[in-house]
Amino acid sequence: MEKLYALFGCPVHHSLSPLMHNDAFQHMNIAARYHAFHVEPKHLKDAINGVRALGISGLNVTIPHKTAVIPLLDDIDPAARRIGAVNTIVNENGRLIGYNTDGPGYVQALEEEVHIDIKGKRILVIGAGGAARGIYFSLVDKGAKQIDICNRTVSKAKQLIDECDAAVSSAACSLNEAEERLGEYDILINTTSVGMYPHMKEMPLSLANMKEGTVVSDIIYNPLETKWLKEARRRKAIVQNGVGMFVYQGALAFEKWTGAFPDVERMKKIVMEQLRR
Ligand code: ATR
Repeated sequence: MEKLYALFGCPVHHSLSPLMHNDAFQHMNIAARYHAFHVEPKHLKDAINGVRALGISGLNVTIPHKTAVIPLLDDIDPAARRIGAVNTIVNENGRLIGYNTDGPGYVQALEEEVHIDIKGKRILVIGAGGAARGIYFSLVDKGAKQIDICNRTVSKAKQLIDECDAAVSSAACSLNEAEERLGEYDILINTTSVGMYPHMKEMPLSLANMKEGTVVSDIIYNPLETKWLKEARRRKAIVQNGVGMFVYQGALAFEKWTGAFPDVERMKKIVMEQLRR
């Protein structure tokens, strides 16, 4: 029987996940479909019970459900629990298990697209919200030497660092302080929404003090190249946009559901084609 996988979010109409996953199922001869459902927060509990009742095989959950879904599941992977957010659910014989593939997806995209070994690197994470949490803990696990977090609200950056018990050197600072010390870092990562459509003239911070050859990575993929990435490219940085993170979080979810890792280059091509339209 054909299996069903689903996305729960609010809104979901813009999502590229159905396109990407349905193509992979078809391409890999897996009898399954992926469908996006608009689920209002007040209906999340009923929707999750619906997953059990209907035997939906796996899910993605997106904004605003990534944290709210946790108490509704049967088990949470320790890494997802540490992040405090779930984006992938596997239905294992009626037991719903929550995972987070956002942070690992980001890190895998960074390593494979930029060909960089995170171990021993000095990294600046800009932002301290949900996306930053997954990315920060995944970078810690990869053995980065230093991971500082700058944020408009510095106390949120400090709180995230305080939650991490691993032996990594981390400091919280303001955006202005980070701008001044930009030359110290090998990798800069924007996890905020600053520069995203329709606010395309904005930049998370100035790159004036960045050294040439720094890796500058933005998790935004709409537009494909933010003003910040354009400026980084002009200053001879190695740049990476958010398509890789989106595709790899999906690929890792797909692997958790099916046991097979999909063709990420094919996924990327499909997503890019759609975004360019
Ligand atoms: P997400 O789950 O996508 O990470 P979030 O949890 O709302 O979203 O976090 C958004 C991040 O972008 C936060 O770090 C936020 O800074 P604050 O903690 O100070 O709110 C940051 N952010 C959003 N808009 C911003 C802006 N205009 N300037 C600077 N930082 C901004």
